[in-house]
Amino acid sequence: MAFPQTRLRRLRATPALQALFREIRLEPGDLALPLFVRPGKGVKRPILSMPGHFQYSVDELIKAARAASAAGIPAVILFGIPERKDPLARGAYAADGIVQRAIRAIKDALPNLVVITDLCFCEYTSHGHCGVVRGRKIDNDATLTLAAKTAVSQARAGADIVAPSGMMDGQVAAIRGALDGSNLKDIPILAYAAKYASAFYGPFREAAESPPRFGDRSTYQMDPANAREALREVALDIEEGADMVMVKPALPYLDVLSSVKARFGLPTAAYSVSGEFAMLKAAAANGWIDERAVTLECLLAMRRAGADILITYAATDAAKWLKQS
Ligand code: PBG
Repeated sequence: MAFPQTRLRRLRATPALQALFREIRLEPGDLALPLFVRPGKGVKRPILSMPGHFQYSVDELIKAARAASAAGIPAVILFGIPERKDPLARGAYAADGIVQRAIRAIKDALPNLVVITDLCFCEYTSHGHCGVVRGRKIDNDATLTLAAKTAVSQARAGADIVAPSGMMDGQVAAIRGALDGSNLKDIPILAYAAKYASAFYGPFREAAESPPRFGDRSTYQMDPANAREALREVALDIEEGADMVMVKPALPYLDVLSSVKARFGLPTAAYSVSGEFAMLKAAAANGWIDERAVTLECLLAMRRAGADILITYAATDAAKWLKQS
C-alpha cells in the first residue's frame, strides 16, 4: 500500500514515537578515546591541529584517562612518542618503553578501563615508516618479527587488546602466533584490516611526530579507490586470527564499513581519524556548524553503517553530550 494509506510520518509524530522506532543507538559504551603519551613529568603539550588533545606524560595521561572513564568511555587506545627513534623502532618493544610504562600506570589507576595498544612503528622509527626499511623499500617480513615482539611486550605490560595498524601482510598471523606461544592466548587482536593511505591522517602525524621522511605509505596502506580489495584484506585478517576488524578512516569510507559488516559480521570498529576531527573543530570554531549536533550525527552515521566500536578524538565530549541528552 502506498499513500494515502501509508504515511511514514505517523511514526515520527512525537519524540516518544521517534525514540521507539529508532533503529540504532549511540552510547558512551561504544566509544574509544585515542591518547598520546610522551616521556617526562607534568607534560601536557597541546596538539595544535587537534584542539583539546595533548601529548601527555604518563602522570598527566592518567588524568585524561580518568576523565574519559568517568564520562562512561570503556576504552582508550594508546600511541607513544619515544625518547629516541632508531631504524629498528626499538622503543616500540622495549620492556620499559613509553607505551609499556603508560599501560602499567593506567592499569594501576583504572583497572577496569580497557587499554588498546596501536601496534605500529612509525612513531618509533627514525625514517618514519611503519616497518623495517631496506634501501627505499619497506621490508614486509622483517617487520613481522618486530610486530610479534611488540605485541608480546605490550601484552606483558598489561594491554587488553593489541591493534596492529602497520598494514604488513601476515601481521595478524605473526602476532597471534607470538601471543599464543608466550602464554598470552587470551589477548584479542583488533586488526586495522582496511586502512587506507589517507590524507586525513595529517594532524595525527603532528601529534605522533611520525611523518615518513621519504616517500609515502602507499606501498603498504590501501588505495582510497579500492573497495573490493578491502574485503580481501578483512577476509585475510580474519583467517589469520583477528577477533575484531577495523575500517579507517571512517566518514569518507562508510561504504567500506557497511560492506565489511554485512559480509563478515564480526565486531567491527570505525576509526574516525584526526583529519575528520580537525575539520569539525575548525568549522565549529568559526561558528559554521553546531559542533555537538554534527559530531553526534557523524558518530551515529558510523554506527548505522555497521560499526560497533567508534574510535574518536571526540569521545570524551560525545560521552558527556550523550549523558546530558
Ligand atoms: C600508525 C597510525 C596512524 C594513525 C593511526 N595509527 C598514522 C598513519 O598511518 O600514518 C592515524 C590516526 C589518525 O589520523 O587519527 N601508527
